[in-house]
Amino acid sequence: MSQTYPGASADRLRIHNLARAEARNSFAEDVRAGLLAEPKKLLPKYFYDELGSQLFEAICLLPEYYPTRAENEILTGYADEIVRAVEGPKTLLEMGSGSASKTRCIIEALLKQQDELLFVPVDISATALETSSRVLLQSYPRLRIEAYAGDYYDGLAALHERPEGTRTLALFLGSNIGNFDADEAQRFLRAMRSVLRAGDALLLGADLKKEPAVLEAAYNDALGVTAAFNLNLLVRINRELEANFDTRAFRHHVAYNAEIGCVETYIESQRAQSVRMGKPGLEIHFAEGERIHTENSYKYDLAGLSRMAEETGFVRARTWLDEREQFSSNLLMVAESDAV
Ligand code: AVJ
Repeated sequence: MSQTYPGASADRLRIHNLARAEARNSFAEDVRAGLLAEPKKLLPKYFYDELGSQLFEAICLLPEYYPTRAENEILTGYADEIVRAVEGPKTLLEMGSGSASKTRCIIEALLKQQDELLFVPVDISATALETSSRVLLQSYPRLRIEAYAGDYYDGLAALHERPEGTRTLALFLGSNIGNFDADEAQRFLRAMRSVLRAGDALLLGADLKKEPAVLEAAYNDALGVTAAFNLNLLVRINRELEANFDTRAFRHHVAYNAEIGCVETYIESQRAQSVRMGKPGLEIHFAEGERIHTENSYKYDLAGLSRMAEETGFVRARTWLDEREQFSSNLLMVAESDAV
C-alpha cells in the first residue's frame, strides 16, 4: 500500500505501508511465544505503539538519559564534516527515524551542498513517519520524502532505486543498534551493506561503555518515565490481545551486565499471579519475583565497533565523540573489497 498526501507538499511525500495484514497476528504470536518461553521475554519493537512512541520522546528529555543529548551535540557540531566525508550529491536513508529531530542537522548540512534531497526514512511507526515527514517537508522546500512504514528488514527489502548519480548516506542513530546482540547486529549491518554500494556510508550511533551507575540511572530515571515506557507493553497487550495484566502488580527492573556491556531491562512480577490472554486463549503463571526480559541496550567501545564493521563489509573510517565522550557517531564506509 502506498499513499500520496494532498496539500502544499503533495508531490513531495510518499509513504509505503509495509505493515502486513498479519501484523496483529504476529504481535499475538510473538507475545504468546515470549510468555511461554523460559525465561519469559518480549520484543522491544513492541514498545512503540502511540503512547510508547511518545514516552520514548519524553525519555529523550530526561536528565539521566544522556545519549540523545550527546548525539545531538555531535550532530550539531559536526554535521558538515560528516556529510562531506561522503563524496558528491547524496540520498539520505534513515533506519528507525522516529521523530527525525536529530536528522534535521544532517538534512540542513546536505541542503547546503546540493539543490535537492531525497530522504528515505524507514520506521516501525506509521504515525511517527507521517507526523515527522509533514514537519520536515514544511521546513525544507527542496526536500522529497519516500517513507517506508515497517520493520527494518521489510523496509530494506522494499527500497526503490535511489536517484541516479547520488551516493547514499545511511543513518542508524540513537544507539538503536544497542537492542541487538552480536549476531543480530551482524545480520543487520550485512543487510544494510547489501543495499549500499562502493562510496556509500552508514553513520552508526553507538553508546559507549561507562560507569554502571550512570548507565543504570539512564534506564531507571527518578521520574519513572522509563518504567512507564516499559510497563506500557503490558497495557498494550491488555488492549490489543484482550489480556488482564494487573499493571500495578508488576515493576520495572534494570541491571547493567558489565561482562557483556549490556543494560538489561525487565518487567518483574511483584507477587505470584496468573494472567489470562483472550486472543491466543492462554493462562500464564508468574512466580513472585519472576521477570519478563523486555530489552537489551548494548554498549560499545571503539575497538569493538571496528571489529563489527570489518566483519560486515565496512570500515570504521571516522568517529566523532561528544565532549564528555559518552557517545560515538561512527562513519562506516563500504569496504573496497566487495566480499561480505
Ligand atoms: C531506542 C534502543 C536506543 O536502548 O537506549 C531508552 C530505548 N529504552 N530507554 C535505548 C530505550 C529505555 C533506546 N533505544
